Amino acid sequence: MKKLLDQITQTMEDAFEALGFEKKFARVTVSNRPDLCEFQCNGAMALAKQEKKAPIDIAEQIAEQIREHAMFEEVSAVKPGFLNLKLAKKYLAEYLKEMSMDAESGKYGCERVEKPQTIMIDYGGPNVAKPLHVGHLRSAVIGESIKRMGIFLGNTMIGDVHLGDWGLQMGLIITELKFRKPQLPYFNSAHVGEYPEEPPFTIAELEEIYPTASKKSKEDERYKEKAMQATYDLQHGNKGYQALWNHIIKVSVDDLKKNYKKLNVSFELWKGESDAQPYIPEMVRRMKDGGYAYISEGALVVDVKEETDAKEIPPCMILKSDGASLYNTTDLATIVQRMEAFHPNQIIYVVDKRQDLYFTQVFRCAKKTGIVSEDTQLYFLGFGTMNGKDGKPFKTRDGGVMRLESLLTDIETTMYEKIVANQKENQQMDDELARQTAAQIALSAVKYGDLSNQASKDYIFDVDRFTSFEGNTGPYILYTIVRIKSILNKYEQAGNERKNLYVGEAHSESEKALQLELARFNGIIESAFAELAPHRICAYVYDLANALNHFYHETKILSEEDVALQKSYIALLELTRGVLETCIDVLGFSAPERM
Ligand code: ARG
Repeated sequence: MKKLLDQITQTMEDAFEALGFEKKFARVTVSNRPDLCEFQCNGAMALAKQEKKAPIDIAEQIAEQIREHAMFEEVSAVKPGFLNLKLAKKYLAEYLKEMSMDAESGKYGCERVEKPQTIMIDYGGPNVAKPLHVGHLRSAVIGESIKRMGIFLGNTMIGDVHLGDWGLQMGLIITELKFRKPQLPYFNSAHVGEYPEEPPFTIAELEEIYPTASKKSKEDERYKEKAMQATYDLQHGNKGYQALWNHIIKVSVDDLKKNYKKLNVSFELWKGESDAQPYIPEMVRRMKDGGYAYISEGALVVDVKEETDAKEIPPCMILKSDGASLYNTTDLATIVQRMEAFHPNQIIYVVDKRQDLYFTQVFRCAKKTGIVSEDTQLYFLGFGTMNGKDGKPFKTRDGGVMRLESLLTDIETTMYEKIVANQKENQQMDDELARQTAAQIALSAVKYGDLSNQASKDYIFDVDRFTSFEGNTGPYILYTIVRIKSILNKYEQAGNERKNLYVGEAHSESEKALQLELARFNGIIESAFAELAPHRICAYVYDLANALNHFYHETKILSEEDVALQKSYIALLELTRGVLETCIDVLGFSAPERM
C-alpha cells in the first residue's frame, strides 16, 4: 500500500501542477500542531518568493483547488501561508480497511522492497568458554531486531554469530586443563586412534577454567608462554589439541544456543573466527601481489588513511612480525569468505562503538584491496554502553561482571512476584503459566528498555523503570495488547463473530487519532529499517498504545448498543492488536494472553 503521507502529497502535487506551480513545493508533513490540523503543507511560503506574491494568497488559491477533494474533511489557508489539512474520515477508514485486508499476510499494508537484497548481519559476537555477560546483550538484541525488520521488508537476511573461537583463550584453557588432568589422551603425543567422544568437562567447569587460567597467565610469565605455545600448536595441527578444541566449541556452543534461545535470538550461521583461517594465506598473498601490503617495523600492514581524514587513521595490520594473524586478519578473511559464499549487497556489523576506528580500518582495507566489490556496502552499527544507575558500566551489586543469565533470572523473578501480587482471587493463573508469562514480560522489559534508546547512545539500565507496567516500557506495551485481547475474547464469548469486520468512519477525536496512528505503520517500518533504528519502532509502538488506551477510556465498546458501530470498534481493536503484535515481533519479543 502506498503510504498515507505519500497519497496526500500526491494529491497536493496534482493540485500544484493544475495551478501551474512546480510540484516540488507540494510536500506534506504530519502536523506539528495536532490541535489545529492533522497534516500540513508549507510549500506556499517558498512558492510565494518565487512567484513574488503574498504567501497567503497562494495558500488560498491552493486551498480552493483541493477543498472539494474526497481526501479531505477540512482545508484551510492560515497566515502567513500555511495549508492546514484534516483527512476525511471516510478516506481514512478506507485506508484502514485495506490494511485489515492485508492482515492475513501479516504485512498490514507494508510493501516488500522493490529490489530485495542479501544482507549479512554480524551480531552476537560471543567468545567461546566465556559466559555471556551484559556486554553481549545489546549486540544480540539490536542485531536480532534489525534482522527481523529486513526480513519483514522482503530481504534475505543472514545472521552470523561470529564466534570468538580462535584466540589465546583457547590456549589458556588447554594449558589449564593439561595442568589439572595431564593423564588425558589429548596430551599424550603417542596417542593413536580416535579420542573420546565425551568432553572432559562440563560448561560449568569450562567457565571456571577460563578465568582461572587467565588470572594465572597475568601473574605468571611462564604460564602465559605455555598458553601462547599451546595456541600456536593448536593452530598448527596438534591433533590432541584440535580434538580438545572441538569439545570446547561443542560444549560452549550448546550453552550459548540455550542462552540465545531464552533471549529469542537466533542465528542462520554459527561461523567463528576459526572458519576464516583457511582464507588467510591466499588473502595475504593477494595483498602483497597487489602492492597493497608492505613491511613496516617487521609487521605486514596496509595503509588506509585518506586525504580528507580529520584525524590520523593508522595502517591496518595484517600480520605481526612473527607472522601471527590478528583480529583484523580474521575479520578481513571472514569478509573474503562471506563474499565467496553469499555475495551480499551489504554486511552490517552490530558491535560496541568503541570498535569504530578498528572497523574503519578493516572496511577501508577491504575496499582498497578489492576484497569487497564497490557495490557491496560495509556498515558499522556501533552501540553505546549499558550503564548502571550510577552512570558506570552495569555491574553486579558486588562490582563483578553480571552474567546475562542472572540478569534475566532476576528480572523474571521480579515479574513473577508482580503477577502473583496482581492476581484477582477468582482468576488465579496456574504456577507454570505464571512463570512462563513472567519470562515473557521480563524479556519485553529488557529488550524494549534497550531498543527504545538510540543504539549509538549509552543508556542507563534501570530495572525498576523497565519493569514498570506504566510509562514507556515493554510491560506497558504488553499490558495494552493483553487489554485488547481480553476485550476481543469477551466479544467472542458473547456469541459474536470476529472475522470480516472492517473499521468504519471515526466517531470521536480519540478514535480518529487512533486510526491516524495505525495508518503510519508502513512508513514507520520502512524508515526504521532505512535508518537501522529499532528505537523508531519503539516510539511508534508507544504512541500507538497510548492512542489505544485513550480511545479505550473514552469509549464504551462491549456495552455499545449500535451493532454496526460496535463491529467497527472491534475491527479497530483487532487491527491495533495486529499492528502492535507485528511491531513487537519485529523488535524480538511477544505478548502473553493474560498477565
Ligand atoms: N568477539 C568480539 C568481542 O567480544 C566481537 C566480535 C564482533 N564482530 C566482528 N566481526 N569482529 O569483542
